Amino acid sequence: MHRTLFAALAAGLVLSPIHAQQDRVARGERDFRVCAPCHSLEPDRNMTGPSLAGLWGRKAGSLPSFERYSDALKSSGIVWDDRSLDGWLTDPDRMVLDNEMPFNGIKNPQDRADLLAFLKEATKPGAAPQRTAQAPMGGMGGMMGGDRDPSLKNLEPARHVKAITYCRDTYRVTTADGKTRSFWERNLRFRTDSSKDGPEKGAPAIMPAGMMGDRAGVIFSGPEEIKMIAPKC
Ligand code: HEC
Repeated sequence: MHRTLFAALAAGLVLSPIHAQQDRVARGERDFRVCAPCHSLEPDRNMTGPSLAGLWGRKAGSLPSFERYSDALKSSGIVWDDRSLDGWLTDPDRMVLDNEMPFNGIKNPQDRADLLAFLKEATKPGAAPQRTAQAPMGGMGGMMGGDRDPSLKNLEPARHVKAITYCRDTYRVTTADGKTRSFWERNLRFRTDSSKDGPEKGAPAIMPAGMMGDRAGVIFSGPEEIKMIAPKC
């Protein structure tokens, strides 16, 4: 018993540097699930937050393809490296007052170190962007919108919106399968997605929302298409 334990410990000691690093990256990849709804690791694929591809050595707030940086972050003068990222992830508000990242920080230093070990690998130029696409361990990522919303091209008929009418407090949405559903006006949201994952022009998508089946969102390829909503009783 003791001997096996000793052998296991000895083996652990010999292998530890590589294994510890691999474990750390694996744990960090899991920890990244809290960031993935807002950040992709694919170059220039921006969501709520900027893509993190090529992060190390980048000036804070400087990704040209991201339109939504706060002035606070843009003028912070920070350059992202191991130290500055550790500070940012500990407490973003303490590091950059008035930043607009809706995230409280990670208080456990070990968790931050794991996450940074993973990010450093995964954000290197040329690092496989698919890493985030494979929703790690399934489940919540997908449910919460995940790091990868489904493409809205080639919609199935039940999702493909053909017409929307509006009468008093009600929207009626007709889809390509011939069905029409009614929504109370406050339960239907209108959104746009002009990215390559967004719907084709003229083929908006309807996506269920909420838990009760009474809400949905219609996603257009651009704001000009919202004109298709026709007042009609
Ligand atoms: C709810 C969405 C959200 C979550 C969750 C989130 N972020 Fe952010 N992040 C943002 C936004 C928005 C910004 C831009 C903030 C600004 O301009 O003030 C940002 C900025 C950043 C930046 C600066 C990037 C740059 O180009 O300067 C880094 C680094 C970052 N986030 C890392 C992370 C990490 C790592 C996590 C997970 C631990 C995380 N974020 C969680 C939304 C989020």
